[in-house]
Amino acid sequence: MSGNKDYSCVKVKVDEEGIAWVAFNRPEKRNAMSPTLHFEMEEVISDLETDENSKVIVLTGEGVSWSAGMDLKEYFRETDNNPKVRFKSQWAHRHWAQYLMLSAKPTIAMVNGYCFGGAFTPLAACDIAIAAEDATFGLSEVNWGILPGGNVSKVFRDLASHRDSLFYAMTGRTFDGLKAVDMGIVNMAVPTDQLRYETVAIARELMEKSPAVLAFTKQAVKAVQGMDMNMAYEYLAAKQGALRAADKEGTRQRGMSEFLDEKSYRPGLGAVKRD
Ligand code: ACO
Repeated sequence: MSGNKDYSCVKVKVDEEGIAWVAFNRPEKRNAMSPTLHFEMEEVISDLETDENSKVIVLTGEGVSWSAGMDLKEYFRETDNNPKVRFKSQWAHRHWAQYLMLSAKPTIAMVNGYCFGGAFTPLAACDIAIAAEDATFGLSEVNWGILPGGNVSKVFRDLASHRDSLFYAMTGRTFDGLKAVDMGIVNMAVPTDQLRYETVAIARELMEKSPAVLAFTKQAVKAVQGMDMNMAYEYLAAKQGALRAADKEGTRQRGMSEFLDEKSYRPGLGAVKRD
């Protein structure tokens, strides 16, 4: 299991509650993403998917940075004449971002500091994002001569408005956690000293729900984005049926019975208790 392995650029620890803490771990380089970091993340994130002890994945950064984006030295300059490593690290990056995006487990980005350029791809891949109010975000690509590539232009534009996407991509200006909330880039921003506490509170709330219901819910919300109304009706009906078969905890039956018969809880105010 990845929780028991040592990595050079990634720190992973699954705590006793089931929160998998995954950290970019190159604090001396502001957690810039090197090829090695991508290879390690690819292994860590895919391993966590089948790790029964991991219920929620939290992605954060060691030190003052979440991630300062791609490593200009190791990811760009040193691979300019090494197409093999460039290719492998590009794909490793793409893979681990997709593992995060498609994970059946809830994923939370806990943005503790700098978030630049390529870091927007894993940020956008997480289901929920919480930032420190004074975190610093920026599309700095324009400042040093490239466009927001990989898939940064796409994921940024999917999260933010047309105006904000163009403004921040073209000026390279930075913005803080509060502005990121305003733009729809993250769900909430809190003072740094409350960041971990609030993240754990969200993780605990998610762990109260049936994992199957949660997985199907996030898959459904993501899938309908590209569908028209009729397709979405059809898809959601089929998905609902599939969930009833997949949810071995029988959450739906239990929820109805505890609300309607036993009158022991209210679905509007929280999750039905699990065993
Ligand atoms: N690539 C390579 N090295 C980096 C990166 C990076 N993206 N970010 C930081 N580092 C390194 C620095 O070179 C420095 O290394 P050194 O100690 O060996 O000289 C070390 O990390 C610390 O960096 P400082 O700049 O001294 O730290 P400071 O706290 O003053 O500034 C900041 C932090 C603002 C994040 C700054 O380092 C920076 O601008 N980094 C680049 C951000 C960026 O533009 N990323 C690329 C986005 S585009 C893309 O991802 C495709």
